[in-house]
Order: sequence, then C-alpha cells, then structure tokens
Amino acid sequence: MSFKFLNIDLSQLEFESCLGSGCYGGSVCLYRNRKDKRNRRIVVKSIPYNSPEYAYETVTKEHTILSQVNHPRILRYFGFFQTNDSWNMITEFAERGNLAEFLHRRKQQGAFLTQRVVMAKYRDMAEALQYLHQRKVIHRDLKPGNVLIDADNRLKLADFGIAKICTNVSLDEEMNMTIVGTPLFMAPEVASGKRYDYKSDVWPLGVIFYELCMLEHPFVERFLEGEESMERKKFSPPQIDCARHGFSRDMQSLCEMMIQVEPKQRWTLEKILKDDRVVGLMEREM
Ligand SMILES: Nc1ncnc2c1ncn2[C@@H]1O[C@H](COP(=O)(O)OP(=O)(O)O)[C@@H](O)[C@H]1O
Ligand SMILES: [Mg+2]
Repeated sequence: MSFKFLNIDLSQLEFESCLGSGCYGGSVCLYRNRKDKRNRRIVVKSIPYNSPEYAYETVTKEHTILSQVNHPRILRYFGFFQTNDSWNMITEFAERGNLAEFLHRRKQQGAFLTQRVVMAKYRDMAEALQYLHQRKVIHRDLKPGNVLIDADNRLKLADFGIAKICTNVSLDEEMNMTIVGTPLFMAPEVASGKRYDYKSDVWPLGVIFYELCMLEHPFVERFLEGEESMERKKFSPPQIDCARHGFSRDMQSLCEMMIQVEPKQRWTLEKILKDDRVVGLMEREM
C-alpha cells in the first residue's frame, strides 16, 4: 500500500467525527494524524465490501479521476487503503463544510452575498471545471453538496463518483446517455436522457451561480422548514434582481450564458471565461 503524498501510519489515525454518510452505506469521517507535527486532519471516505457492485464503480471511478488531477480548487487526494471490511480513500479536509450548508445558512439569515463574494466563489468553481474539461473530464454531479469550502473560504470541487473521462475525441454516445446526477441540478438534456457534453456541467454551474446571487434555486421553491416541501416552479429564464442586490447587469448576462435549455445556445466554459463582461466581473472581484 503506498501513498503518493502522505506517509500515513494507519495506527496513528485518531477518529474525530463523522462528516456525512456517503451514499450506499459508506461513510465520510474526519481523523487526526497523531504523527503529524502540524496536526493536520484528513478525511477518509469508506465503502464497505458488502456494498452493491455499482457502489464500487463509483469509488474506483473517483479514485481514478482524483489520482489524475492536481488543482488547488479540486479536493486533494492522498491515496487509498483497504481494511478487512472496507475500501477507503483519503482526502484533505475542507474545514468549512459544503456549499449547500453555506447557502442554507445564508438564506436563514437573509444574508445576501455581495457581487465580489459571488464572483470569487464562481471563479473558484469555474476554474476547477475548466481544468477538468481541458482534461476531458465531465463532473456530471455538480451541485452545492459536492462543492466544499476550506479554511480560507476557497471552494474545492469534490465527489467524482460519477464523473466521466472522455477518452475519444467524440464523446462516447452510449455512456453519455446514462441518467446520472441530481435532478435539481441536471441539465435538461441530461434529465431527459439525451446526450452528455461538457456543457452539461455548465447548466448546474449556472444554477449554483443563481443560488449564490439570490439565495434560492431558480426553478424550485424550497421552504426552510424541510427540504421535502419543495415545489417545482414552471420553467422561465431566471432573472437575477441586479438592482436590488447592487449587482452589475453583466451578472444577468453571465447567468444567461449558462442557463440555456438548448445546449447549442449554452456557452462552453472556455468561451464564458474569455467574454469581456465576465473578465470585467472577475477583475472587479479581485
Ligand atoms: N474532504 C472533506 N472535507 C469536509 N467535508 C467533506 C469532505 N468530503 C466529504 N465531506 C462531506 O460529506 C458529504 C458527502 O461527501 P461526498 O464526497 O459528496 O460523498 P457522496 O458520494 O456520498 O455524496 C459532503 O457533502 C460534505 O459535506
Ligand atoms: Mg456528494
């Protein structure tokens, strides 16, 4: 068993807390490494051997992809180990939890974000996604729960269990038609079982961007009492209330580049990040 970046003696790991129950009966737990002088903590995502076959596919997929990427805005992966009853992946710890919890808290407090903060968060996610797309990886499950926040309030993309590496120049039709991901954040072509594309990651990025601006999902009413009580709104192009929040009108333009039902109308990330208005918004953010 070898670790690429860390030399961890498993007997020195001390359990601290459970961060989440991973899907398929797995768990995501926080450990302190007693041997580490800087007292850094690590996260172990475990999957029991008695999990269904497809659960293994997700962890092995996640392992394959995380082993190949190295970007400050993508959760850092340290390697895996096996125990008598589970398969385990070690990653860095994102101290401030996930973006879904962050958005929920801000909504409860009615604490809207400034344009500068929205753009800083947008930039983190866009840079991570652009890096992936350049390496022919589609994340396919972009949503606030899979975006983590570190101690410096920078975002890190996580959860690559259903990501897809497109090895062929033309995307693999059959694989790309599988319905995966989270319905609330799925691009329409994905939800209706049509073809996947890099642009299928741009739609959820747009939905998250809108949520950062308005603290609500563009197509669903969510009531604070419980996530079950959701009501799907009829689709209409989302409108960011720029005047109310003191945003530039270019924020609405950026939203419209991403939230387009027709994939042909939707921009690629590469084109978005080169657009003068977007460059302007990013510069003002700094
Ligand atoms: N490295 C980490 N640091 C902090 N929290 C994490 C970390 N990894 C996972 N989590 C928490 O656990 C949740 C589930 O992890 P995730 O990787 O998305 O697994 P799943 O495949 O079960 O969705 C995340 O939404 C986040 O709240
Ligand atoms: Mg997840």
